[in-house]
Amino acid sequence: MSTTETILDGRLLGWPQDWDNLFGRSAPLVLEIGFGRGDFLIHLAQTHADANVIGIEVSQPSLRKAARKRRTQGLSNLILLYGSAPHILTYSVAPGVLGDVHINFPDPWPKEGHHSRRLINPGFIDLLATRMRSGARLFIATDHPDYQPVVTNCLAATPFFDSLLPTIYVTDDETRYRTKYEMKALAEGRTCQYYKFVRNALLAPDLFPIPEEMPMPHAVIRTPLTLADIADRFEPTVCSDEDAEIHVRLMRVYYAVGEPVLLVETHINQKPQPQRVALKIHLRQSGELMLSLHEIGFPRPTSGVQAAVACLLRYLQSLSSETVVVQHNLRL
Ligand SMILES: C[S@@+](CC[C@H](N)C(=O)[O-])C[C@H]1O[C@@H](n2cnc3c(N)ncnc32)[C@H](O)[C@@H]1O
Repeated sequence: MSTTETILDGRLLGWPQDWDNLFGRSAPLVLEIGFGRGDFLIHLAQTHADANVIGIEVSQPSLRKAARKRRTQGLSNLILLYGSAPHILTYSVAPGVLGDVHINFPDPWPKEGHHSRRLINPGFIDLLATRMRSGARLFIATDHPDYQPVVTNCLAATPFFDSLLPTIYVTDDETRYRTKYEMKALAEGRTCQYYKFVRNALLAPDLFPIPEEMPMPHAVIRTPLTLADIADRFEPTVCSDEDAEIHVRLMRVYYAVGEPVLLVETHINQKPQPQRVALKIHLRQSGELMLSLHEIGFPRPTSGVQAAVACLLRYLQSLSSETVVVQHNLRL
């Protein structure tokens, strides 16, 4: 197996993912978010041979480094996931499935305008509360003086977690396996705060339902418009469904090389995760045009993707009133 084969793209996981099936055995699911160099994660997998361990990272170089270490150590109980933790947790982890979670030194995003990018916020703690089983532990460590009160306030306020320490946090933990970032922080004289919480038995409201997967949308149209007409006359277009909170932007068109196909670069703004996809307009031998999704960007068939194809259809109808829908599977 090459290093890349040990890294799974989070966008390809099930909604939700059957983790036992992925690991080939039933075992508690343990997670580290943002593992960086991966030494803590490797240690976690080595010392929890009876657990299915997953590590989520957004950084490709970090993933590759950890994949090499995983291979060298032959750790079949460890899977590395490429993607953003809130996204993977929302879509692919069913409620109550997750065991212990470790978050070591999440990026502090110190600039005022970047605070919304911080991982730890009340909404993320609520998401963890829905995904973690009762009795699972949440470990967080941070050295950043501006981020520390944010983490403290989030954990002090949540009704779903209880501290395992006599205080909300401690500033030393001799028993820890230290991360690279932590050793640097300590060497530079910064004070680290360590939080150890446990998910209690209080039921968390289902604020983060796993989105429904719909059929991959398509529509076939008969129209006097040629691909060249569409490309020449294309104008960026926005379609919004305020009730469903879906906003679609058809941004640009491109010719696909060597195929009678136009690709429409499209942004779908839908919570919890926006998607950038390529809609495909394919000239069939019959002369009809088929509107569908290109596989670029791993589109997932959400209601937002349905709305995007419907938006393109309406746009083409606005270019020529003689455009007729022959067949479609859209939930219009
Ligand atoms: C400050 S570093 C800490 C790395 C490591 N935990 C350590 O203590 O040495 C934060 C890490 O979190 C990762 N990260 C940031 N946002 C993330 C997200 N939304 N999901 C998963 N990982 C994320 C970054 O790529 C980075 O590797």
